Amino acid sequence: MMSHLLSIDSLSRDEIDHLMRVAARLEPVAQRRKVTRILEGAVLGNLFFEASTRTRVSFHTAFSRLGGSVCDTTGFTFSSMAKGESLYDTSRVMSGYCDAIVMRHPEQGSVAEFAAATHVPVINAGDGPGEHPSQALLDFYTIDKEFARQGKALKDAHVLMTGDLKYGRTVHSLIRLLARYAPMRITLVAPPGLEMPHHLIERVSRQGLAVEVRESLAGDFSDVDVVYTTRIQKERFTAEMIEGFNLSRDFTVDRAFLDSRCNASTIVMHPLPRDSRPEANDLDVDLNGDPRLAIFRQTDNGIPVRMAIFATLLKVEEHIERDLRDV
Ligand code: CP
Repeated sequence: MMSHLLSIDSLSRDEIDHLMRVAARLEPVAQRRKVTRILEGAVLGNLFFEASTRTRVSFHTAFSRLGGSVCDTTGFTFSSMAKGESLYDTSRVMSGYCDAIVMRHPEQGSVAEFAAATHVPVINAGDGPGEHPSQALLDFYTIDKEFARQGKALKDAHVLMTGDLKYGRTVHSLIRLLARYAPMRITLVAPPGLEMPHHLIERVSRQGLAVEVRESLAGDFSDVDVVYTTRIQKERFTAEMIEGFNLSRDFTVDRAFLDSRCNASTIVMHPLPRDSRPEANDLDVDLNGDPRLAIFRQTDNGIPVRMAIFATLLKVEEHIERDLRDV
């Protein structure tokens, strides 16, 4: 089994299946119907050098619900990196204090560089536009649960990915993960300049995914099972890109798109946050309350999946049932 979780590339299909099964076993703990102390005495270093709400809090909650305690560092300002400390030194120091480390950092590859210097498991919680593997795992867990509820088979899945496919690290991890379950159909729709990197399309196609690239959300998507939409990551744009960039409403997923172009069982996912400013044209709030909107079931699933990642990395998953107690 893995020693760190840095990229979906490090996980085999069997290892992903194992994490999904462990997450399902931990659902009663995630929902606080049962309690466990399998990580009692363990300490998590939760290091976030880039903005986050759900990843930071759900990793914290997951570790706490397993009986461990958490040290948080948020932002460069409150870390000695602000005084010029290197990733290497920070990593060596933190691994002397903690049993596992979760890290988010704005530079692609930085979390792997950090992990190379440590003796404890490191989880990549997002490295710039690189990857976000725990998000892909909880996305896949959500798709699997939604399909089971609808009586659909994963092998027949057709997933539409739309939004910022260039800088959106969640889609970079999710497409790698879905390739482990090929054959499966993927359709990609991105605004000009924000397309999925070619090397990724070529790679997952070689692995057996049937990938179609379309230019807009116009047309028929009635055989799509999952619409996975993402925020435009303007914070990663160059100055040239920001100038004059306006996202056309043609790329917005809303009730009209779902009703007229998809089907009654199509679900809508988004890694969140969604940009609520009107000019952002992100996933529309007019779907709030619609059962096809799976985004908050998706965020809830972050807890059992992140618990499963900790239990597996720290090799305590065999003790789950033995330690379970009623609340
Ligand atoms: N999905 C996700 O990574 O959300 P946060 O940026 O709030 O952690």
